[in-house]
Amino acid sequence: MIFINDFKSESEELRSAMVNATKRVIDSGWYVLGKELISFEEQWAKTCGVKHAIGVGNGMDAIEIALRSLGITQGDEVITTTMTAFATVLAIYRAGATPVLADIDPATALLSPESVERCISNKTKAVLLVHLYGQVRNMSSWVDLCNKRSIYLIEDCAQAHLAKYQGKFAGSFGQAGAYSFYPTKNLGALGDAGMLLTNDKFIEEKSRCLRNYGQSKRYHHPELGLNSRLDEMQASILMERIKWLEGFTQRRKEIAHAYQVGINHPLINMLKEPETSDSHVYHLFVITCTEREAFMSHMKAQEIQTLIHYPIVIHQQEPCRAAKQDPQGLAYSEQHAATCVSLPCHPQMSDKEIETVINTVNSF
Ligand SMILES: Cc1ncc(COP(=O)(O)O)c(C=O)c1O
Repeated sequence: MIFINDFKSESEELRSAMVNATKRVIDSGWYVLGKELISFEEQWAKTCGVKHAIGVGNGMDAIEIALRSLGITQGDEVITTTMTAFATVLAIYRAGATPVLADIDPATALLSPESVERCISNKTKAVLLVHLYGQVRNMSSWVDLCNKRSIYLIEDCAQAHLAKYQGKFAGSFGQAGAYSFYPTKNLGALGDAGMLLTNDKFIEEKSRCLRNYGQSKRYHHPELGLNSRLDEMQASILMERIKWLEGFTQRRKEIAHAYQVGINHPLINMLKEPETSDSHVYHLFVITCTEREAFMSHMKAQEIQTLIHYPIVIHQQEPCRAAKQDPQGLAYSEQHAATCVSLPCHPQMSDKEIETVINTVNSF
């Protein structure tokens, strides 16, 4: 079977490095908010070219903490895409704010600036931009739009580790960037983990306080915070896995390139190619097909796993049916949700497996 992710086929070298890292933590006798986390925070901040990185429990908390650090709360509106992981929007609700759902550009499945403009009101405090599937596009326009409207730009970078736009990394454009290190992400831990990036000292201090019960110094709680800390075990694993990230990303790009060149079928459509090789890290390789069910069955019959990211748009999820949305509707997102399919695109895939995927798609 060719899987969407296949961690069991990772190299012995990486596996034993992770085992040694966990031993290092056990031997240290210190498990939460220690040296491993400081090292990883410094490393990820340096990698992404930002001043501060704050390790938190997961990607969703990173978004909530970013919003709360910016003072976004009840009565404030945050515009985001309806074509995203549920966690993106749940984080807005958890911060006490109101999500406003905008549509996508069908060519990329990314948030549409025209739709965002239609969603802006005098309550709008931020755009939460999701770098869906690993794509970072049009960042100068997003920065301009948010500056012009005096609203914050927060980036959901859960799928975009190492993605760059004009030399700058995802998470370094807005006031804050939120990363997830969930195991399946391009840089993943062996459990939940997340991180918030910012160049702003105030946001840094506030989020360090919020992640730790709202504690400013021992036993002083000026805020009602969360318990959301990236523990030493996961930080040590991430310190090892980060050494492989560039190579793994390169392999994802090679696979994507092979698909772009090799897949040729009248019923299979590709998303628009990225402008530069830096600006898409292929967390997911997504195609669209109007005969999706038959296509997925065809792939499964040939032992190739496919998945859907995402089959249900946020405004059709039960708790969000009444959510505020683009007055012109969210038709492109609905169409994408009905037709999108993710093909296997992970760094452990062999050349033979890539060829098998291409031939199987083309024989549909
Ligand atoms: C786009 C997006 N945002 C946010 C999240 C939430 O991350 P986590 O699972 O670490 O909370 C995810 C992960 O599923 C995601 O894909």
